[in-house]
Amino acid sequence: MSDLKRALGEAVEAAFAAVGAPPELGRVTPSDRPDLADFQSNGALAAAKRLGKNPREIAAAVVEALAGDPRLSAVEIAGPGFINLKVADATLASRADEVADDPRAGAETVAQPRRVIVDYGGPNVAKPMHVGHLRASIIGESVKRIYRFRGDTVAGDAHFGDWGYQMGLLIGAVMDEDAEIAAEVEALNAAGGVDDPIPAAFAKVTLADLDRLYPLAAAKGKEDPAYRDRARKLTADLQGHRAGCYILWRQFRAVTQVALERDFHALGVDFDWWKGESDVDQLIEPMVAELDAKGLLVDDQGARIIRVAREGDKRELPPLLVVSSEGSAMYGTTDLATILDRKQVFDPDLVIYCVDQRQADHFEIVFRAAYLAGYAHEGQLEHIGFGTMNGTDGKPFKTREGGVLKLNDLIEMARAKARERLHEAGLGEDLPEAEFEDIAGKVAVAALKFADLSNFRGTSYVFDLDRFTSFEGRTGPYLLYQAVRVKSLLRRAEGEGATAGPVIVAESAERDLVLTLDAFDAALTEAYDKKAPNALAEHAYRLSQAFSKFYAACPILQAEPAIRASRLTLAGATLRQLELALDLLGISVPERM
Ligand code: ARG
Repeated sequence: MSDLKRALGEAVEAAFAAVGAPPELGRVTPSDRPDLADFQSNGALAAAKRLGKNPREIAAAVVEALAGDPRLSAVEIAGPGFINLKVADATLASRADEVADDPRAGAETVAQPRRVIVDYGGPNVAKPMHVGHLRASIIGESVKRIYRFRGDTVAGDAHFGDWGYQMGLLIGAVMDEDAEIAAEVEALNAAGGVDDPIPAAFAKVTLADLDRLYPLAAAKGKEDPAYRDRARKLTADLQGHRAGCYILWRQFRAVTQVALERDFHALGVDFDWWKGESDVDQLIEPMVAELDAKGLLVDDQGARIIRVAREGDKRELPPLLVVSSEGSAMYGTTDLATILDRKQVFDPDLVIYCVDQRQADHFEIVFRAAYLAGYAHEGQLEHIGFGTMNGTDGKPFKTREGGVLKLNDLIEMARAKARERLHEAGLGEDLPEAEFEDIAGKVAVAALKFADLSNFRGTSYVFDLDRFTSFEGRTGPYLLYQAVRVKSLLRRAEGEGATAGPVIVAESAERDLVLTLDAFDAALTEAYDKKAPNALAEHAYRLSQAFSKFYAACPILQAEPAIRASRLTLAGATLRQLELALDLLGISVPERM
């Protein structure tokens, strides 16, 4: 089963080939003038140039070749040699039936499924998630779903930051604040095992404590070299499995995990693997030895690095710091070891890192090191960066007090706004409290996710909760509302005993709706190829609009039986495709609102 655009494209390409023109020039696109045609092909102009002929002459030959095609009701030349195609109503109707019968709503799968890992979210243990992690979670979740839906075998990994310098900073800060903890760390360092139970002194440390201490410690580490050196030393102690540091770190991980799970759950983000940097701990020593044996490690003022700069680089890329002068593994070291780990446990064809664009150099350095070490080959590792979510001042979003906004607070804010909006619109008010809350949660998530995913990921955007939560315009809540409207229509039809039947296309709003349904696979393919969910977000929005126009122009339940049956099929197909597209964006639709 193929969409109309592709099927007609093949016919036009064959006609181009028949007149001796390069077939790829025959490419068919949706028409810029939907009032005149459904599809167009502009290739005759380029073909004419290549062949030294008149474009209208080539177009005429192509038109003649297509003239008898029963799928088309008109093939015409416009202007200097554009070819306009109008699809026959019967062809649209049978394509609509096909989409309506297809559980995938007209979407294809890839010819050669791959094994793919999506590394996204990237929260840091002992630091609450902030809006910087919001985009990584939202975009990564969608990319993961899109890849899986297209038929790849996909694993999503959170890749927690739990093994770096910030852990040493926190261990030090907690010890400074609490003498009992400090004494316990020393005692366990001297005579404990890493698997010992967490002592009572450690168990009282909460996420709120870490939350409060981390920014202070981070600031102090920047100013005070002695403080920083101690934090580095503690990081090395942790990585060296000194029991006191290690067990205290286990407590940090435990309290963070609870909050992370809550936040991710509220956002509709699910990881297959909750792995962290620390999970590759055991691989680091042998990896360093191997890198050394391969002659890749260079000593640099007590540290060990891999040089990755290449001839022809436009700017100088710093080396990968593998072992710090204190003997610790760094952010890049765990990333390199993780490539090795993933190769062993999953053997991916592709690893997609969905991380802030500002880490582009980091990934370029790690990837090059991995290629040099033979842990991966070019093209297998891909960083998909994204811009920032900004405040109205154009800088990365901060709270009114100037702090970074925690994800949990952001979700709460969005929920509060969603409740307000639902009340304003008079929606969901007669529903039971628990259901209303569920709807408000879904509206909040739809608002945040759609606002994010409707932009190309590379673009930064301005955080504007008022706009995001509106039930009008290009927003998540608008799409939810449209989907719920279709659901309620279908429920009503069922109540009246009206059933769906073969599609009949006659009205222009019906044509447009079917053409939009037909465009799903192209949108999905683009989202997949470019790792750009915005193509799918755009499709979902167009589909809602096309349905809305259809719903206004074409009576459904009042129509005579055959038309009613046809329109119910169109409504059902729209709902399935819309819900599917939204699901691939990580957005779920309530039953009613
Ligand atoms: N924890 C990192 C941060 O907060 C993001 C991790 C991204 N993934 C990776 N493999 N490095 O910046």
